[in-house]
Amino acid sequence: MALLAQSGPAPAPSGGPRRMPRTIALVGIDGSGKTTQARVVAAELAAAGHPAVYRQNAGGRHWFGRIAVLVGRTDAEDLFGRRGTLVLESMLRWLAIARTQLRRVVHREVAVMDRYAVCQFASLRAHGARPMAERFARLAYRLFPRPDVTFFLAVDPEVAQERIERRGYDTETMEYLRTADGAYRSLPEYPAFVVIDANGTPEQVTKAILAELGQA
Ligand SMILES: Nc1ncnc2c1ncn2[C@@H]1O[C@H](COP(=O)(O)OP(=O)(O)O)[C@@H](O)[C@H]1O
Ligand SMILES: [Mg+2]
Repeated sequence: MALLAQSGPAPAPSGGPRRMPRTIALVGIDGSGKTTQARVVAAELAAAGHPAVYRQNAGGRHWFGRIAVLVGRTDAEDLFGRRGTLVLESMLRWLAIARTQLRRVVHREVAVMDRYAVCQFASLRAHGARPMAERFARLAYRLFPRPDVTFFLAVDPEVAQERIERRGYDTETMEYLRTADGAYRSLPEYPAFVVIDANGTPEQVTKAILAELGQA
């Protein structure tokens, strides 16, 4: 029901089709299943006849890490510094979202977004950036409309860490995952998120998201 409150014009009277949101964002800590779910949800909506597409709004942190290792450093922060990495990530994610929004407007598609602006605000908080840095990021990201619905994939940090290890291309400490979870929950946007229990099987999580979208 939270979804209806956020999805703009009122839905058709009872019995009519529920209005499909134009922008759907999936957010949450690393390992919560954003990429997995955004892909599946986009595919399910497309199969149901909606012009839905998967869009990734990456901040590049994964690639910075790989580049750092290539040049003999341990990770992105070792190469670019903590502040440098945050500035780069904020800029790259801004560009990614600008591209996603442009494509959404041009193609009139339903964008199922893997991450959005709030992920950057949470990242800044989790990495201990100064409040000034978040204020600046919020100013730059204000250009982007709020998604019609934001799903927060709520996962236990222990479960997330196990998944990240199984995925095998990066690692996160428990301390960071807990801090990141707290950062999302501390955001002023958090009360408007539709919280999904993301500890279950991929199928259970997809079902919960589709149910909120009136597609189950
Ligand atoms: N519900 C789930 N149960 C078990 N494993 C999952 C689930 N969702 C995703 N995974 C796996 O866990 C890893 C992390 O998922 P991913 O979608 O990449 O998360 P994120 O994009 O939020 O970091 C991937 O290897 C993925 O296949
Ligand atoms: Mg991902």
